[in-house]
Amino acid sequence: MQYGYFDDEMREYVITRPDTPYPWINYLGCDEFYGLFSNTSGGYCFYRDARMLRLIRYRYNNVPTDSGGRYFYLKDGDDVWTPTWKPMKSKLDRYECRHGMGYSRISSARNGLAYSQTSFIPLGDKCEIHKITLTNESNADKNIDMFSFIEFCLWNANDDMTNFQRNFSIGEVEVEGSRIYHKTEYRERRNHYAVWAVNVPVAGFDTDRQTFLGLYNGFDEPQVVFKGEADNSIASGWSPIGSHHIKTKLSAGESQTFVFVLGYCENPEDDKWENAQQAASGIINKKPANAMLEKYSTAEAADKALAALNDYWKNLLGRFTVEAEDKKMARMAGVWNQYQCMVTFNMSRSASYFESGIGRGMGFRDSNQDLLGFVHLVPERARARILDIAATQFPDGSAYHQYQPLTKRGNNEVGSGFNDDPLWLIFGVAAYIKETGDYSILDEKVPFDNDETLADTLFVHLQRSFNYTLNNKGPHGLPLIGRADWNDCLNLNCFSKTPGESFQTTANFESGIAESVMIAAMFVFVGPDYVELCRRVGRNDKAELAEKAIAAMVEAINLHGWDGNWFLRAYDAHGKKIGSKECEDGKIFIESNGFAVMAGIGLEDGRAQKALDSVKEHLDTPYGIVLLQPAYKEYHLELGEVSSYPPGYKENAGIFCHNNPWITIAETMLGRGTRAFETYTKICPAYREDDSDLRRMEPYVYAQMVAGKDAERFGEAKNSWLTGTAAWTFVSISHFILGVRPVYDGLLIDPCIPANMKSYSVTRHFRGADYHITVDNGAGVEKGVKSITLDGKPFEGKVLPVFGDGKVHQVVVVMG
Ligand code: BGC
Ligand code: NOJ
Repeated sequence: MQYGYFDDEMREYVITRPDTPYPWINYLGCDEFYGLFSNTSGGYCFYRDARMLRLIRYRYNNVPTDSGGRYFYLKDGDDVWTPTWKPMKSKLDRYECRHGMGYSRISSARNGLAYSQTSFIPLGDKCEIHKITLTNESNADKNIDMFSFIEFCLWNANDDMTNFQRNFSIGEVEVEGSRIYHKTEYRERRNHYAVWAVNVPVAGFDTDRQTFLGLYNGFDEPQVVFKGEADNSIASGWSPIGSHHIKTKLSAGESQTFVFVLGYCENPEDDKWENAQQAASGIINKKPANAMLEKYSTAEAADKALAALNDYWKNLLGRFTVEAEDKKMARMAGVWNQYQCMVTFNMSRSASYFESGIGRGMGFRDSNQDLLGFVHLVPERARARILDIAATQFPDGSAYHQYQPLTKRGNNEVGSGFNDDPLWLIFGVAAYIKETGDYSILDEKVPFDNDETLADTLFVHLQRSFNYTLNNKGPHGLPLIGRADWNDCLNLNCFSKTPGESFQTTANFESGIAESVMIAAMFVFVGPDYVELCRRVGRNDKAELAEKAIAAMVEAINLHGWDGNWFLRAYDAHGKKIGSKECEDGKIFIESNGFAVMAGIGLEDGRAQKALDSVKEHLDTPYGIVLLQPAYKEYHLELGEVSSYPPGYKENAGIFCHNNPWITIAETMLGRGTRAFETYTKICPAYREDDSDLRRMEPYVYAQMVAGKDAERFGEAKNSWLTGTAAWTFVSISHFILGVRPVYDGLLIDPCIPANMKSYSVTRHFRGADYHITVDNGAGVEKGVKSITLDGKPFEGKVLPVFGDGKVHQVVVVMG
């Protein structure tokens, strides 16, 4: 069944009941301050780094689920309730949550009292705004007590959940009128604090959790609220919270609006205190807070900030729009998929309802892939990101697998040795240049391993990336896998027997021979971009060498990477095949087949088609394509984490959505538009909206994984939001199915669609001009462009020129 619907006009997903099959969340914020926001107002916010600078506490994997958030309690006479449903799970007469682009709005009502909460993070500011309107819809006057509630996180989210012997003694707050300041550790080494404020006078406040809730009470039983009277408690250690008590009288029909602001403020080191003498008394300098709160002190000001945010998104999403009869595809490709790409670009894999914000930093591979779906939105940010990523590369071309966003340094705990990583940099840079035509990025001087003395041009970085693969080949002339390739769980040199050991960093058996056919195919796929870039910077010598190296790799794949009906996956540390008909389990894998066909291997001799037909035959399911078959039933020391998961989950034969678009793209290479579209729709959440009880995750965003056919819960999704699926599906639908693809010299038009898709149109902003493209498939073909008319004149070829003239250009494409 469905728990809501898409409001396409408003670009909102409207959730119509609060008890969704899992918390359905949204992200607030687009640059440095972010919030996670569930459909019942759960979640938290942070400045730049979800681990180091978290403002409010959130309890992952708690009971009940989704514990912690910005809560508001209403006391209407004797009736105490929470208008966002949680935490009291109040019975509501009305409920609706609209998740929009960077904002969410929850509206509800009970006993004639209506509530509306609009939550967002204004552009360029470090705060969440919660604009709340209460309306008396009854015929009688109402005396309402409203209590706000947040629980402060003592900044470092990891410490906050573990180091209680210290934390219970350090909490400090300051209260001034309607403003509650959280200043734990400000007296010592921090120069930042949080403020939680409301724009009206308060009747009282609380800052001590135990006082507000009662020691043995949950969020659903706050004793202060039931009493109807704040205690004006000042936290001293233990758990500082922020609660305002507002008393208000609403006559029949009357509305009142309150603006709550939760902000992050920083002071210069020498200006931390109100004045020098007050350092000892500990009164913080409130200048930045005053300035921030001044800005959002009225409902009108909050509305204006929201309008600016709406304009920002309207403008961004105007860069690629789709109109089609298939509304599900149009809304996903035109709105939600791009929105998710922005979120993955911003968050990498750090903070979601499945990523705790304290673990992984930015992934080298992940961030390069995230660029693919984001670069058309804000190319300048993609450029800066590329330079950050490249600066963590090692001089030999290898890469730290992850780096920390605050320090931008490679992460030693995980280290390097994921041998696909270097090649992703070429992908990212090529995508950026195809989008922008900005070759100057190749001349940028970028450090290696963050060491300025080792700096060289970005072009040299790409050269080292390319050569890293060539310098690390195994006995079959295929690339060595190292710790793993794209499949983090294919740990062929690991051989771990010790519980708890990391599969990714343990190497008990450095064979020096385990090889990856997937990296080989990736090399052949991305190699031509490297060749092209060499040519464009005048290095024909390097281009020629690279071409030879690519040809040799194709040869190695042909000789040692083909299994008769599909491409092999790898050779293990003993030189045994993985992903072969000879194997008992794991006979066929998705990744090498997708990449080999995307690279064009076997297109001429029928092997490409055979490989994709085998994928369909062995791996396809109604919910997408599983990663491998048969699932590993037991733990294999020589394979690592892939065999550690129960059959059907994650990399062990789950539907790992991230790699499904590779098959989609590969199918378009064969011109099979119907099949390409089928693989696209199977993992696309909008197509499973009415199956939400099984799928469970948000119907407006992709999930990393859907349980595969071997799993007990076949069809159930997990790990929504932060996944490379977002970028790759956007590439597959926009570049390869709808066929509007930036290339070095222009915009290539090359659709591959189901025969029954008769027409569609796309607008694409590209290098300073807008292309309005309508595609007519009256002929009912799957691929092939018969004619193109550009601004009313016949146009030869398929690559539209770069206009850069700020104008709209009309393009009519007739397929046939
Ligand atoms: C997950 C992968 C992840 C890896 C490294 C595995 O358990 O399945 O998706 O990349 O751990 O953190
Ligand atoms: C998730 C990781 O973020 C991604 O980099 C990896 O490729 C997949 N897991 C597959 O293991």
